[in-house]
Amino acid sequence: MDTTAPTIDPAPAAGGQPDPIATLPPSFRWGVATSSYQIEGAVAEDGRTPSIWDTFCRVPGAIDNGDNGDVACDHYHRMPADVALMRDLGLDTYRFSVAWPRVQPGGRGPVNPAGIGFYDRLTDELLAQGIDPWVTLYHWDLPQELEDAGGWPERDTAYRFADYASLVYDKLGDRITAWTTLNEPWCSAMLGYAYGRHAPGRQNFADAMRAVHHLLLGHGLATQRLRAAATNPIELGITLNMSSHSPATDSPADLDATRRADGLGTRIYLDPLVHGRYPTDVVADLAARGIELPVQDGDLEIISTPIDVLGVNYYFSTAHSGVDEQGRDRDEDGNPIERVVPTGRPQTAMEWEIVPEGFTKLLVRLSRDYPGLPMWITENGSAFVDHPDENGFVRDDDRVAYFQSHIAAVAEARQQGADIRGYFAWSLLDNFEWAYGYDKRFGIVRVDYDTQARTPKQSALWYRDTIRRVRGGQA
Ligand code: FCB
Repeated sequence: MDTTAPTIDPAPAAGGQPDPIATLPPSFRWGVATSSYQIEGAVAEDGRTPSIWDTFCRVPGAIDNGDNGDVACDHYHRMPADVALMRDLGLDTYRFSVAWPRVQPGGRGPVNPAGIGFYDRLTDELLAQGIDPWVTLYHWDLPQELEDAGGWPERDTAYRFADYASLVYDKLGDRITAWTTLNEPWCSAMLGYAYGRHAPGRQNFADAMRAVHHLLLGHGLATQRLRAAATNPIELGITLNMSSHSPATDSPADLDATRRADGLGTRIYLDPLVHGRYPTDVVADLAARGIELPVQDGDLEIISTPIDVLGVNYYFSTAHSGVDEQGRDRDEDGNPIERVVPTGRPQTAMEWEIVPEGFTKLLVRLSRDYPGLPMWITENGSAFVDHPDENGFVRDDDRVAYFQSHIAAVAEARQQGADIRGYFAWSLLDNFEWAYGYDKRFGIVRVDYDTQARTPKQSALWYRDTIRRVRGGQA
């Protein structure tokens, strides 16, 4: 790592106020997160079979610039050097995902030794460098064969997921204690099956709702399997992407749109997970559209199997309107309008509004509505247009400011009583940002995709220095 690059002073927050980040305790844990398809490449090596993302990337127009994950950051071949980068940043923990079609090609049958071998080596490498591994079992790369058999709208996929989870735990459970079942089931269900923006690219709202239930069922079944198999204490949970939702105005239509956004964004997941029931207003909204969640006897008990930790992914907050630009409150199918309205706040390169206080509000609300569940920030970060100098160094003051304000927001939430144990920055490396391809860069380390050279950005140095400072060491 280039230690000659300038570092940013970890200065107190503007206005002479004490820096909230300094209130985070030395026990607070710091990491970075990535996911398999976004960084690994090597899509046809060591027995890996295609996932829905390999297929979706071949659909003309699905991905900006026609990009795909065939090579990505070539992490599969550069893993030890990438772990060394993390060590140099002083990280405690690394959240990565396991590629299902690498470990269990086709989504059924025995483990593929060569495929799990990669994660076995990664685990050992992390532990050798003093970094705790944190596994996500599913970060969206469903084996294509399982989609061909119906995908997440089919109940059988939940059982296939539980089998796969057992295979992974069997091989890595002796060394890994932190386990996340699913990353962002909202994205799998809504972006994948309702909006068609993500793999597998379906546009069917009823399918998306079936997918929600089967994702949650898969989570519950896998949770039960891992608990039964664990001989050591484990920290087991699920990661949800969430926002603070507010009404664009105080009109009844906007208030109702906000309720519906929160219902389908947050409560449809957390109510069954924590309280063992789907929210009645959401069930009624779905019934009005002729949709019933495919719940069978016993499912909600499985889904509400206790978890140890809730993973929170936060990027932005949204304001909602219940009328379209023409003032209509129903779409052409007769369904109520629910529209995100810009509030004029500064945005990232994703056109996501930068709302750090929405993060505090969300975390405090979660601790109130779902008490007793320790939280980890399993992703938070931002894409901006980077301008590397001749050495590839990026002075990304905008990304630093985003991290600073959002980590401060986490500290504020802790001060208000939310039990938050750690923070993962998204992401270690610039990577394949799904439908946006490689154009959107979230890394704290720049990747030159022509050479695969890695260059820590200013944000990486700031993050390293912030961790040291919070620990009471010298920045
Ligand atoms: C999250 C995803 C992650 C990444 C970030 C920017 O929704 O979990 O893979 O794409 O957004």
